[in-house]
Amino acid sequence: MKIFICKTAEQVADTANKIFREVVKTKPDALLGLATGSTPLGLYQKMAEDCRKGITTYKDIRTVNLDEYVGLDGTHEQSYRYFMNTNLFQKIDVQMSNTRVLSGVAPDLQKECEDYSAYLAGNPPDIQLLGIGGNGHIAFNEPGTPFDSRTHIVTLKENTIADNARFFSDISKVPRKALTMGIADIMSAKKIVLLATGKNKAQAVFDMCEKPISPDCPASALRNHPNVIVVIDSDAASKIL
Ligand code: F6R
Repeated sequence: MKIFICKTAEQVADTANKIFREVVKTKPDALLGLATGSTPLGLYQKMAEDCRKGITTYKDIRTVNLDEYVGLDGTHEQSYRYFMNTNLFQKIDVQMSNTRVLSGVAPDLQKECEDYSAYLAGNPPDIQLLGIGGNGHIAFNEPGTPFDSRTHIVTLKENTIADNARFFSDISKVPRKALTMGIADIMSAKKIVLLATGKNKAQAVFDMCEKPISPDCPASALRNHPNVIVVIDSDAASKIL
């Protein structure tokens, strides 16, 4: 695991953008694994800027996303499909038909998960972007999730529901279930880039890097992967320095 510590969140975004730019330059039809949440927003702005300036074209890339809420379709403003469309896909020249996000309204959610895992088994992402939860979760894989998990349905923990409530008018509107890539799906990516910014991520970053590798901290699984780059700001790094 390589760790880059940047002074600011802006530099984290810039560093991540350079890594993604290189992957797309080397392989124009790369499969990019993407994430939602507040952490990747700076990176997505930089990718959009690169596209606008003609530095990078994403016209042949394919994408997969980590997760989606159950019960929200892509027109719901809090769905992860909507997030990706508005924060990235509509701002770059990717072909929408090449973007894949789990459907939280699929008639058979179990099948949706199995199809997604089967796709990933045949198409390992060239690069997978991750954020990290305050409790060490990656995607919606909460502490206790087995490292051999594939894409599955999860019941969200109370603290994750509370964390996400800020995006909904009322906590009762936060979906209780989600679909998520499993830890084994994530680990199948050829390269993984995990971003973290802010003091509220410092403990999770410490646990990921320093505590024993165990499902108690899902992100610690990344230490078993041969090609992981962690890009964090000095606040998120404050407990490992
Ligand atoms: C997002 C995801 C989550 C977030 C994590 C951090 O697709 O799977 O695991 O990466 O909850 O979220 P932020 O970036 O909002 O702090």
